[in-house]
Amino acid sequence: MRVIYPGSFDPVTNGHLDIINRSSSMFDEVVVAVLDNRSKTPLFSIEERVELIENATSHLNNVKIDRFEGLLVDYIETMGIYTVLRGLRAVSDYESEIRNALANKNLNNKVETIFMVSKAEYTFLSSSVVKEIASFGGNVKNIVPPNVNLALSKKYKQMEE
Ligand code: PNS
Repeated sequence: MRVIYPGSFDPVTNGHLDIINRSSSMFDEVVVAVLDNRSKTPLFSIEERVELIENATSHLNNVKIDRFEGLLVDYIETMGIYTVLRGLRAVSDYESEIRNALANKNLNNKVETIFMVSKAEYTFLSSSVVKEIASFGGNVKNIVPPNVNLALSKKYKQMEE
């Protein structure tokens, strides 16, 4: 079975990587689909986000990194993979996740969304929290992979110059 794990991944965190690691041992293939949202300005470009995930998951043979624009259901159709995987951290995620899952189902009845519960230690963790801490020079070493930690330091240093 193949699944699509979509997200913004700006940047990928240890919480995302935990979901990728665990799902890669459950499914034949996990396609990490990075949203290229032109209407939002992310901290990392689409190329940077893809590369950061590629480097952090290079040990996983059945994990593929891809990018998509527009509606997830359109990407799903082009891939021919109708199972979407999302991580659930806390009750606060539930409302938006159910809304998206139902919207996708409404757009294409073939789409099934499955949820994987995040590790308890990552319940607080999000890309926004990582950026907030890193932007003030805080330590994010234990919540992002080493390559992301380095990329964050470089990015904020560049922005200061
Ligand atoms: O990491 P995120 O930001 O929580 O990921 C959200 C994502 C990218 C999965 C979701 O916003 C998405 O699928 N966006 C594409 C547009 C779309 O299809 N939205 C769902 C129907 S409203």
